[in-house]
Amino acid sequence: IDQHIAVPVGVTLDRYIMHNQNAFSFATGELSQLLRDIALAGKIINREINRAGLIDITGGFGTNNVQGEAQQKLDVVANIRFIRALINGGEVCGIISEEEDDIIHTGNNQSKYVVAIDPLDGSSNIDVNVSIGTIFSIYRRVSPLGEKPTIEDFLQGGDKQVAAGYILYGSSTILVYTTGNGVAGFTYDFSLGEFILSHANIRSPQDGKIFSYNEGNYNSYESFVREYLIECRKRSYSARYIGSLVGDFHRNLLKGGIYLYPPTSKDPKGKLRLLYECFPLAMIAEQAGAKATNGFQRILEVEPESLHQRAPLYIGAETMVNELMNLI
Ligand code: AHG
Ligand code: MN
Ligand code: MN
Ligand code: MN
Repeated sequence: IDQHIAVPVGVTLDRYIMHNQNAFSFATGELSQLLRDIALAGKIINREINRAGLIDITGGFGTNNVQGEAQQKLDVVANIRFIRALINGGEVCGIISEEEDDIIHTGNNQSKYVVAIDPLDGSSNIDVNVSIGTIFSIYRRVSPLGEKPTIEDFLQGGDKQVAAGYILYGSSTILVYTTGNGVAGFTYDFSLGEFILSHANIRSPQDGKIFSYNEGNYNSYESFVREYLIECRKRSYSARYIGSLVGDFHRNLLKGGIYLYPPTSKDPKGKLRLLYECFPLAMIAEQAGAKATNGFQRILEVEPESLHQRAPLYIGAETMVNELMNLI
């Protein structure tokens, strides 16, 4: 964290990454390059999103992804852009994506890293000018160098992430990431084409007054969740729900709040995906002094079994998550 504070607000992401390179657990420069490649992918997706109303990339694509969700055109565009940037960058041997059934082999088998992505988060908000995002999670591979990556590379568990982050395409675009050494945020300056350090050391408030969940699902929540929500109402906390996980999480991280996606009758195992939604946001939460649980254990301790596995998610300010857990 000291390393992060040492860099003045206003430096570019590139310079920041360079400055922090020796703080990374593997200081060979490859992870640094990979983070730059992700930032580039973010800029490209940001450009597509900004033009969404002008060119024909809004609306449905007419296909379903592996989890049975209707893919939006921008889901597909973001997926292609992201994968292309990672293949061309050369630092990644394998990718999993919300929009792809299986592992994507990049052909860069000498590369040490694998990445899990949610290329575009908040599908239901794409066409209506509401904040959406991109989420990423990075592991060092455990399969032998030189060979194709395997499923084991992706199922190492959340505590094995070497870096995680998100890009929020909101009223401004911000990239937030951690390499396990605190959390930093970089706001995109489109006139320069650069991400600029704007949030040097993000810390979640200890407690908060915002609660975020889909009210339409209330009746199918377990009783401890309903009890907690009733308590939030009694205390006149603010209910805030965008329906874009990245946006809801980012607001709560900065202002203090809790985000809940419990199991529902429609999604009995929860809706959010463990590897490219829950794990990366849980790592950021913990690095910022917040908490993330599935109702039983730390999210980061959940043992993953499959690539597109879902999990319940309760994430946010430490006191709020503790209060919820005490009701079980
Ligand atoms: P995605 O758009 O990547 O499929 O993710 C959708 C997720 C997440 O962004 C959001 O928090 C949640 O779905 C919203 O679900 P509801 O519409 O059921 O509230
Ligand atoms: Mn989706
Ligand atoms: Mn998502
Ligand atoms: Mn998505």
